[in-house]
Amino acid sequence: MSLDALTTLRAEAEANLRAVDDLDSLTEWERSVFGPKGSLTLFLRSLGAAPAEERPALGRAANEVKNALTVEFETRKTALERVALASRLTEDAVDMTLPGRAPVVGVDHPISQTIRELSDIFSLLGFQTVFGPEVETGRYNFDLLNIPSDHPARDVWDTMIVDTPNSEIVLRTHTSPMQARVMEQTQPPVRVVVPGRTYRFEQQDASHEWAFHQLEGLAVDQHITMTDLKGTLREMARQLFGADRRIRFRCDFFPFVEPGVDFSIDCMICNGSGCRVCKQTGWLEMGGAGMVHPSVLEGVGYDSEKYTGFAFGLGIERIIIQRYGVNDIRAFAGNDLRFLKQFATVNV
Ligand code: DAH
Repeated sequence: MSLDALTTLRAEAEANLRAVDDLDSLTEWERSVFGPKGSLTLFLRSLGAAPAEERPALGRAANEVKNALTVEFETRKTALERVALASRLTEDAVDMTLPGRAPVVGVDHPISQTIRELSDIFSLLGFQTVFGPEVETGRYNFDLLNIPSDHPARDVWDTMIVDTPNSEIVLRTHTSPMQARVMEQTQPPVRVVVPGRTYRFEQQDASHEWAFHQLEGLAVDQHITMTDLKGTLREMARQLFGADRRIRFRCDFFPFVEPGVDFSIDCMICNGSGCRVCKQTGWLEMGGAGMVHPSVLEGVGYDSEKYTGFAFGLGIERIIIQRYGVNDIRAFAGNDLRFLKQFATVNV
């Protein structure tokens, strides 16, 4: 143990410190000097073995070296940290002038868009929108609609049976079952529209789907006549397809209405003169309608002498197909974005 050794130790440590150029090697340096086996630590520890008369001077000198090296270490550390921070800031820099990336937002499916549009139109006419179950009992899907089990009309709505044939749980074949469900829950006046999914046992092709959508309408009150039905449908047609639209009724049979009609709107492309869209007929068929059959009213406990009503059911896909010239109904159930994006009202 000598002052010379201490001087050498310091000179070496300082030389090494000058060679340090990053924080990792600085930590390494710190350990080599101040660590448990560091040069200064070992020196200090050996002081006890020095001759008693030299010890105070050696001790003082060693402490001075320790303080000096500590200050140099801290200075170096601050400088290196500043360099590290500066380079990290350059690496992480964000270019605020780059154009932003627009988030991808979805849009409503054309069927949802159309249901909302119809619902808005009918709400202006005083109709409330309600929804019903897609899995129905035979009672609502058929019986309360005046379609008894032995009636051949039942075949028209050939359906998918959910449970055993005897229990008559079916996927609803139309939205009409909601007529009875609504009337059972409330007294006249009734004005509702029921949009929703319906099912039929059907061979799929360009114009037939086994799952599709309908919108049912029902109005029951005193003094309702067929004129009200025609006016309501005409207003719907005008809102959907333009102010000049006309409505055509033709006799048709549905067990739950009397009289029953099918209804068409004059073609908005050719104004009724005949074109490709209306298949040269001038008319676009929309669905069925009629005056609610007295048996249906009585079936839910309404007095059919006091109340009358009209009902209609239209195909949602059919409206979209005719409006936009879609040539395959299967496109609606597919998830082909090339098809769906054409109905986007914003860029997607
Ligand atoms: N439910 C019938 C169908 O799916 C459509 C229909 C016809 C609904 C006449 C009605 C109506 O409300 O009055 O074929």
